[in-house]
Amino acid sequence: MDKIRELGLKGAEKMAKVFGKKKVVVVGDGRVGSSAVFALFQQSWINEVGVIDVVLPGHKDENGEWVKGFNAMHNVEGDALDMNDGASFLNGNGRVEGCDYSICDDADAVVITSGAPQKPGQTRLELLGANASIVAGVCKQLKSHLNDHCVVIVVSNPCDVLAWVAYKTLGIDSKRVIGSGCVLDSSRLKQEIGDDLGIDYRSVNATIIGEHGDSEVAAYSAASIGTTPIRQYYEEYKGISGAEWAFKCK
Ligand SMILES: NC(=O)c1ccc[n+]([C@@H]2O[C@H](COP(=O)([O-])OP(=O)(O)OC[C@H]3O[C@@H](n4cnc5c(N)ncnc54)[C@H](O)[C@@H]3O)[C@@H](O)[C@H]2O)c1
Repeated sequence: MDKIRELGLKGAEKMAKVFGKKKVVVVGDGRVGSSAVFALFQQSWINEVGVIDVVLPGHKDENGEWVKGFNAMHNVEGDALDMNDGASFLNGNGRVEGCDYSICDDADAVVITSGAPQKPGQTRLELLGANASIVAGVCKQLKSHLNDHCVVIVVSNPCDVLAWVAYKTLGIDSKRVIGSGCVLDSSRLKQEIGDDLGIDYRSVNATIIGEHGDSEVAAYSAASIGTTPIRQYYEEYKGISGAEWAFKCK
């Protein structure tokens, strides 16, 4: 921390200077994965972003009908080329590479986004059957390419359970396997409160705790606007108190 203060640097610039530039590999180049790659690619503390997807061979189904395989790595290669082509318009100076798991050998973090997303009406926990085998399969391939400092972040849902699947399959220290948990939900809550109050959501401190799913809880009692507890803020600036506040918290 002293070194950071001494250098007088901020944000991403600080990260790069103090901790060195980092390489992140994203597994799964779907909607979440490709957005993550694009966001990472623009960070000045990143020097390389890797992307991996799946190559599924064709097979016969239980009725003997041929099911065509697909090679999602073709999309990955195209996405990587497109992103590198646009690099001169961005802040970062890294590059994107689509490849196989050998690209993880020198990665600092691997982000797993592979797996089916929710369909309307489906809970995240209902994705477990399909996504547990995908995440376990990814981790089996990743295992022999994981160096001793790389951190694995599980985004595929249900992310808390799948972080445990990844931890068990990889057999590494639990501190190195992180589920993305309620990060997104907390950000959504901040935005909702910001919109409700008509203030910038960056002034809102609020967290969703528990499982990233239907049982998660908004920790209103610990929320604040700047340094003012949120309930006090609603009372003083919006004239909302008691039952009205309890209703809002629902
Ligand atoms: N944790 C969170 O906050 C959060 C938020 C949004 C989405 N998600 C989850 O992220 C996952 C991905 O969502 P999406 O919308 O990007 O889905 P998507 O269908 O757009 O993308 C999934 C990608 O995974 C790839 N894939 C499938 N099997 C693979 C394998 N064995 N190896 C490598 N890649 C493989 C697919 O080819 C596809 O490109 C879902 O499980 C979704 O529920 C989590």
